[in-house]
Amino acid sequence: MKKITLILAFFGAMLWSYSGMSQSYFDDGLGKDFHKGRRDALRQQMPANSAAIFFSNPVRNRSNDVDYIYHQDPDFFYLTGLREPNSVLLIFSEPQMIDGKSVDEVIFVQPRDPNAEMWNGIRLGVDGAKDILGFEHAYLNAEFAGFPFDYTKLDKLMTLGFATDARDSNSKADLVDLIKQFKENAQFPEGFTDQSLKLYELIRTTDQESSANVATVVGRYIRMYPELAEDQLLLEYQKTSTPSEREAIKSKVPKINFDLSSLALVMNSLREVKTTEELKMLRKAISISAVGQVEVMKAMKPGMNEREIQGIHEFVYKRYDAEDIGYPSIVGAGHNGCILHYIDNNKRSFGSELVLMDLGAQYRGYTADVTRTIPSKGKFSAEQKAIYEIVLKAQDEAMAAIKAGLPFGEINKISQRVINEGLVELGIIKRGQRHRYFPHGTSHYLGLDVHDRGNYGPLKENMVITVEPGIYIPEGSDCDPKWWGIAVRIEDDVLITKDGCENLSGLAPRTVKDIEAMMAKKSILEDWVLPKLD
Ligand code: GLY
Ligand code: MN
Ligand code: MN
Repeated sequence: MKKITLILAFFGAMLWSYSGMSQSYFDDGLGKDFHKGRRDALRQQMPANSAAIFFSNPVRNRSNDVDYIYHQDPDFFYLTGLREPNSVLLIFSEPQMIDGKSVDEVIFVQPRDPNAEMWNGIRLGVDGAKDILGFEHAYLNAEFAGFPFDYTKLDKLMTLGFATDARDSNSKADLVDLIKQFKENAQFPEGFTDQSLKLYELIRTTDQESSANVATVVGRYIRMYPELAEDQLLLEYQKTSTPSEREAIKSKVPKINFDLSSLALVMNSLREVKTTEELKMLRKAISISAVGQVEVMKAMKPGMNEREIQGIHEFVYKRYDAEDIGYPSIVGAGHNGCILHYIDNNKRSFGSELVLMDLGAQYRGYTADVTRTIPSKGKFSAEQKAIYEIVLKAQDEAMAAIKAGLPFGEINKISQRVINEGLVELGIIKRGQRHRYFPHGTSHYLGLDVHDRGNYGPLKENMVITVEPGIYIPEGSDCDPKWWGIAVRIEDDVLITKDGCENLSGLAPRTVKDIEAMMAKKSILEDWVLPKLD
């Protein structure tokens, strides 16, 4: 009897304790007003008589009964703050009368479940969705199928697409079921896929002049998604050779109210410019990551391995209470630095190579993306320094040009020019020679995603972007072997201002002199001696 009372008390306490604790919600994270404000901003960009439908991310299985740590879809998180799966968000452009209530947005969430919560942690449930997330209209996900709303009366049903990698469980309201229920209730056209719908819409809205390009796109999609070749209309369109042939096919394309293209552009335009609340999170994530770089500069010593270096960065993140890393950490010594997304980090001990470290803490959902390249023994060799100085100059010149209004593509042009000139001067390439020593772009947006959403138009105030030129000379390259195995990337995260930019990761030294001076400092870790193991 006593035992039963205890168990009931335990479940009771869990059921009602979500507001005081949680593994997923933070008292210093984004507040419900932020998310509500973003939903309102989205609504303002929606066409009349439309709805936007968002689904939470699938739970992804690692192996057997272990799942990967759940990561919410960033768009869903941006608009709701919810960090749980099996949920749907509906936003209407204008309020709809549903069940006698005026509704302009509604969320469907998982039910509270003492057993599931005992194993996996607290769920918000409907009450939490109202109290903590601030939704006026919140329901259980099991009620989504019977939600009394006629989607077919809307002119546009905007979605980002439907996950195809979700696992069906015993529940009748998991993501697989929620997607199926929505497609049935909203009459998703029979025989269509996300891709074919997008292409039909593209064909329907193109003019004669652009129709040849659209035919090329259709061909490309058919090669990428072979099932599209079963669609006779797309197949015919791809084979057309004259505008009039394409017009004839276009006239047969029905108007469908599903729109799988425009919502991504709207989300890009919202998320590319950061609000004050977001900038607070980003500044924190970036400062933490810069401190990680500083601590590693002090701790680096001969005999270290890549994984240990990764551990120091990530330990610093945790000391600052960052909940995660924003992307898999990259620590590459020597030639490994030439592998742009090298994440094995398993080289044991290295000599006098450069070590390229590209890591970012995730703080309350927002990620940093900071790279420093340092000499493992604390001093750059002549060759390492020569390459480093070119990359630094490319970064300095790009940063000097950055300000609101600059076309996004200009940043890359500047860095590419400086790097090409530098490589010519060192005799590594000939003037005008095409090469692969700087094979990536110089900048991307940063936010909830490391490669965040954005439309890549002219820069605007309060965007946060990376500036990350690099030179990578793999072993065996067509140049003097003295350059082989040198890989340098310098990556900072900058806030765009009216007249320039602010380097948010400037806490981590960037110049040769400053890096060498930092590496000469003593690290607290020198006194941390662990026992020898067999
Ligand atoms: N860390 C990935 C990137 O720099 O884009
Ligand atoms: Mn990076
Ligand atoms: Mn980056």
